[in-house]
This record gives sequence, structure tokens and C-alpha cells, in this order.
Amino acid sequence: PPQPDLDLASLVRTIPDFPKRGIQFRDITTLIGDAAGFAECVRRLSALASAHRPDFIVAVEARGFLFGAAMATAMGLGLVPVRKAGKLPGVTIGVDYQLEYGVDRLELHEGAVLPGHRVVLVDDLLATGGTILATAELMRNVGAEVAAALFVIDLPDLGGSERLSAVGLHCETLIAFDGD
Ligand code: PRP
Ligand code: MG
Repeated sequence: PPQPDLDLASLVRTIPDFPKRGIQFRDITTLIGDAAGFAECVRRLSALASAHRPDFIVAVEARGFLFGAAMATAMGLGLVPVRKAGKLPGVTIGVDYQLEYGVDRLELHEGAVLPGHRVVLVDDLLATGGTILATAELMRNVGAEVAAALFVIDLPDLGGSERLSAVGLHCETLIAFDGD
């Protein structure tokens, strides 16, 4: 049953100084390890996604898969994985994106999403926005329409939501942690 009063933020564990000194790591393993918390989290994400009437859920490796896969089954939709370079076996379309240090690459199977398809993007966390902007670029490159990007956690101090709204990408999040 839905638990609208359940405090999801209290189920996220904060680990100081990971992966390096001064970073407060927001750890979702404690959230997904809690049966009621995980179910409620997926229910809330699915409710947000349903409002956009997507054809597919598009989830980003790795932590985005945990939530996107659960949402897709709950919503009766297929899941499209966006993966890090070299993991998808078929013909891929890729996009390079900036990390704090260096660049990385995200890939999508050609034909997984077609022109005119409406998609909702899902990831666990919005920090600088680089990952989700790269994912949105992949969708644009194949002619799909991104209805929204959904996240469990927003770190508003890192400016991701501003970067998304600057390019017209609508985003919604369940939890925000200030002070990062
Ligand atoms: C993390 C997180 C998001 C991304 C957010 O993924 O899961 O995908 O960073 O940061 P951004 O908004 O600044 O792009 P990461 O690539 O660290 O690893 P993962 O494979 O564990 O998801
Ligand atoms: Mg990630």
C-alpha cells in the first residue's frame, strides 16, 4: 500500500569523505535495502513518470538501472538502458561527456528508441547534470522526445537543475540534500 508519510531521505545513508575528502556521499543502498522504502520510492517515481505518458523508461548505468527497471515493470513499460562505453553488444550511438576529471562516454543501442518515441529519463542522483544532459543528447540524436528526467536525489548546490532548465529539460526529484 502507498505510504505517503514515509520519509525517504531518512533511509539514505550519508558517508563522509567518500570517494575523497570533503565529499558527503549519499548512499542509496540503505534505501533500496529497505523493502517498504524501496517500494514507496518506486511508487513515487512511477507516479511522476506516468503523468508524462512515456513509451519507454530510459535508465542510466549503473545506479539508474536499480530504479528504472523497477519503474518499468510497475508501469508495464519496456526499459532502455544507456550504458557506459563498450558494454552494449550491438551497433551503438554514443556521446562523450565531461566528468570532474576527464571525459566519459555513454552509449545507446541503435533502434532501441525511434524518432517520435516519448521517453522519461531516470537516474538515482542529479549532481552537476552532466550525465543526464549526455543522455538527453543521445535521445535528441535519435529523434526521441524527452518528457522529463526523474531522480531520487537532487544535490541543488551543484547546479544540475539549473543546467537542465537552461536547455529546457524538465526535471523532478524526490529528495534534496543541501550543503554538498
Ligand atoms: C553518479 C550518479 C549519477 C551521476 C550524477 O554516477 O549515479 O549517474 O553520477 O552526477 P552528474 O549529475 O554530475 O553527472 P556514476 O557515474 O558516479 O556511477 P554509477 O555507475 O555508480 O551510477
Ligand atoms: Mg550514475
